Amino acid sequence: MPFTLTVNGTAHEVDLPGNVPLLWVLRDALNLTGTKYGCGVASCGACTVHIDGQPVRACVTPLDSVEGDVTTIEGLGTPDALHRLQKAFIDAQVPQCGYCQSGQIMQAAALLDEVPNPTDQQIDDAMAGNLCRCGTYPRIRAAIKSAAQGA
Ligand code: FES
Ligand code: FES
Repeated sequence: MPFTLTVNGTAHEVDLPGNVPLLWVLRDALNLTGTKYGCGVASCGACTVHIDGQPVRACVTPLDSVEGDVTTIEGLGTPDALHRLQKAFIDAQVPQCGYCQSGQIMQAAALLDEVPNPTDQQIDDAMAGNLCRCGTYPRIRAAIKSAAQGA
């Protein structure tokens, strides 16, 4: 039986087995390729999306467990109206290779929804599960602070 999934405000019928990870539903069935595959075992954060505003690892979230609206990096802002974090990441020139960045931004967006003006420690704690092989951590932290302060 197909599943109905609301992603970025649009309802989709998805006819796939319930154990398919949300990551592959997004990337392969819905062509939302901004969400990345890094490890497949919830250890890197590259696949971070929101379900009802909470950050989840899409690589270990089976389709049949999804209850709530999914937001991906494609739905966080639009090209004409970027999310404040997307603007801050661009302004701070955060990305290097870029692979981890949509997961970083989705994780950071959930943090700012919860803690509007986080301390360095709160940022580091919230972002600890999002790995960046390029080592952009100092710029990620700076961009989150700048977005929080509306700079
Ligand atoms: S791909 Fe999901 S946490 Fe690494
Ligand atoms: S920017 Fe390259 S992995 Fe983070």
